[in-house]
Amino acid sequence: MRMRKKRNLEARLDACSDVLIARGSPCRNLKEAAENYRNLIDYRAAFGNGNPVSLEIGCGNGGFVAETARRFPERNFLAVEVCSNVVLTAAERIRRERIPNVRFLNVPAEILDCLIPEDSVERIYLNFSTPLPQKSREKQRLTSPRFLAIYRRLLQEGGEVVQKTDSAPFFEYSIEQFERNGFRCEQVTRDLHRSEWAAENVVTEYEKNFSEKGIPICRLVAVKERE
Ligand SMILES: C[S@@+](CC[C@H](N)C(=O)[O-])C[C@H]1O[C@@H](n2cnc3c(N)ncnc32)[C@H](O)[C@@H]1O
Repeated sequence: MRMRKKRNLEARLDACSDVLIARGSPCRNLKEAAENYRNLIDYRAAFGNGNPVSLEIGCGNGGFVAETARRFPERNFLAVEVCSNVVLTAAERIRRERIPNVRFLNVPAEILDCLIPEDSVERIYLNFSTPLPQKSREKQRLTSPRFLAIYRRLLQEGGEVVQKTDSAPFFEYSIEQFERNGFRCEQVTRDLHRSEWAAENVVTEYEKNFSEKGIPICRLVAVKERE
């Protein structure tokens, strides 16, 4: 079902321009989107400091990035969300709660190469990315080889991808892809909420829904290996 466009969407996005530092056009057109963004982000200009940068891809309503940024004020966060309607909720929240270390990119992850400097990201969070089980959509999965090649370019040496999902088949697929494409999987759990990592876990909006239904949460940390 298509989401109804929010009231005054464009004007409200304009009002968030201090935190929304890249705005998507109809961004499923990747060529057009990539042509709009030829300049790499200057982190110092974006955040006003040189603190390490983490990315969240598919941030949804922004609950996870808001709480994580609050817990780690000495880190900066770039939250990527392709859907304008959704990123608006997240951006308005960050402004309302006056969280200083989060910026948003309203673009598809496919074009992150055009925006983010190589070897500049400490950690990438993939929280409840759509599993897309159909074979024909494998290329769009956020842990397919095409995306892992992008993450390898953006991550610093020893940088990591932290993935959480409710989908066991997607999790097994992802482990296989990480291991084949230059990452080493660590801290693998198929029941995060009953694991040793539960206490430090920041629960996302989707995660809350799934765990209320009794669905176990899978989580891993994939560390970038040397060439
Ligand atoms: C299932 S939701 C999960 C939202 C949130 N991370 C959570 O855990 O509550 C996935 C989100 O990823 C976004 N998304 C999907 N594919 C994307 C892509 N290629 N680039 C950027 N965002 C994407 C969707 O618009 C959606 O908001």
